Amino acid sequence: MANQNRAELTLDKIVSLSKRRGFVFQSSEIYGGLNGCWDYGPLGVELLRNVKDEWWKTMTLRDNIEGIDASILMHPRVWEASGHVENFTDPMVDCKQCKARYRIDVLFDELSLKKKKEALRELYPEKFVGQQKEEVIEAEFAKLADSDKESTRVVPLLACPNCGNKGTFTEARKFNLMFKTFVGPVEDSSAVVFLRPETAQGIFVNFQNVLAASRQKLPFGIAQIGKAFRNEINTKNFLFRTREFEQMEMQFFVKPGSDDEWFEYWRGERMKWYTNLGIKPEQLRWHQHPKEKLAHYAKDAYDIEFMFPFGWGEIEGVHNRTNFDLSRHEEYSGKSMKYFDEESKERYTPFVIETSSGASRSFMAYLTAAYAEEEARTADGATETRVVMKFHPRLAPIKAAIFPLVNRDGMQDIAHNIEADLRSQLRVFYDESGAVGRRYRRQDEIGTPFCITVDSQTLQDQTVTVRERDTMVQERVASGTLAQYLVGKLK
Ligand code: GAP
Repeated sequence: MANQNRAELTLDKIVSLSKRRGFVFQSSEIYGGLNGCWDYGPLGVELLRNVKDEWWKTMTLRDNIEGIDASILMHPRVWEASGHVENFTDPMVDCKQCKARYRIDVLFDELSLKKKKEALRELYPEKFVGQQKEEVIEAEFAKLADSDKESTRVVPLLACPNCGNKGTFTEARKFNLMFKTFVGPVEDSSAVVFLRPETAQGIFVNFQNVLAASRQKLPFGIAQIGKAFRNEINTKNFLFRTREFEQMEMQFFVKPGSDDEWFEYWRGERMKWYTNLGIKPEQLRWHQHPKEKLAHYAKDAYDIEFMFPFGWGEIEGVHNRTNFDLSRHEEYSGKSMKYFDEESKERYTPFVIETSSGASRSFMAYLTAAYAEEEARTADGATETRVVMKFHPRLAPIKAAIFPLVNRDGMQDIAHNIEADLRSQLRVFYDESGAVGRRYRRQDEIGTPFCITVDSQTLQDQTVTVRERDTMVQERVASGTLAQYLVGKLK
């Protein structure tokens, strides 16, 4: 049984299975779709809920983390204090010819090695003569792309990927990624509010409320799952970069000086969360932000990256945000954000270690990591390729499928009774149509970890077969103990 070479796993396969089996649909598909927005179908919503539940349990089944659910619309001053009004921008250019709009870094991402070489030669004719190694070109271009000044010099040399014209780009402009809307009936500047671009600020502004209501002491954290919105100039790669998405964020408030230690603790915890739920360590890696590229609020920052079919992509950030956010909210609101430490009798502004995971990106990572194509035997001894989603059982949208082997001798009734019995505790599925081999394959493709079959032996001794999805090994289990058996396997 050969596992599919992961290099052959394309994004198209994931997108097509997602649509076919009801994980993810394009938003407003019948109207041609809305770029950067996706809908979760019947299986997708279960998988997403399981991802969020697992995160929520990992965070809040502790005595030092409280949960909240803040509103999406917040006072506009929040975003001035946080720095988003000023800094949450991307440099972008428009093509004067065809009106296509590009983020400069995305424009660079799409350049071939040849085009990069040409650009370097035009900008620095003395330095780039003769043959240059591929790595040198890539490294030099990356250096150039990192500099705002140099990258704006490259843009006029590039052809528009949409219409092919050269020299048609406008000067680079800053584009704020926050979506704006209005509260109340008058659409003037005093009524402007933003859809939150991160959930974190809802936590910071509630720091004192949660502290007082929960009677927590430092160090403690606040966890939240919720929607966030960014008017990304270029959306891409399915759920990876969308305009509406969900975040699972936790802000851990600590005494200044203990922040480095807590930062390391949370890095360890967060990586474990992905591997404990079935992602292989070799599919994950850390990327530390270079000091010169750290966000305006950060002392240190690491991304957890996952190997997607299109390459490594960030799924979570772990950040040391220092006391930046609380200090800024204190300054802008005039309300104290300080903490009185009863042990040391000191008053200080806590530091914050943030773990910020994308629910939608984690969903996509779990979907990708689960996908496998394997050679499997059919009932008549031939081999066929089975697509199997090897979700961790706790993430699987459906936990068990129940089949009567054949539709006679009362097997359907027994199977229906088992289904009814299990349904009160687990999400299960009954299927009596087609050959049992085909029914197994349909469940493999949606990642159902257990298939229960009622057969002629069941009529004699009330046992059923339970087939495990990955090994395809079957064992006989007394039908009366199935609920206990499955719950045990889902721990
Ligand atoms: N509060 C910190 C913060 O928001 P971020 O690195 O901008 O940090 C955190 O975002 C996570 O949110 C990312 O690691 C990613 O998983 C998710 N995310 C960010 N932008 C996204 C987008 N446009 N589409 C989908 N997920 C996104």
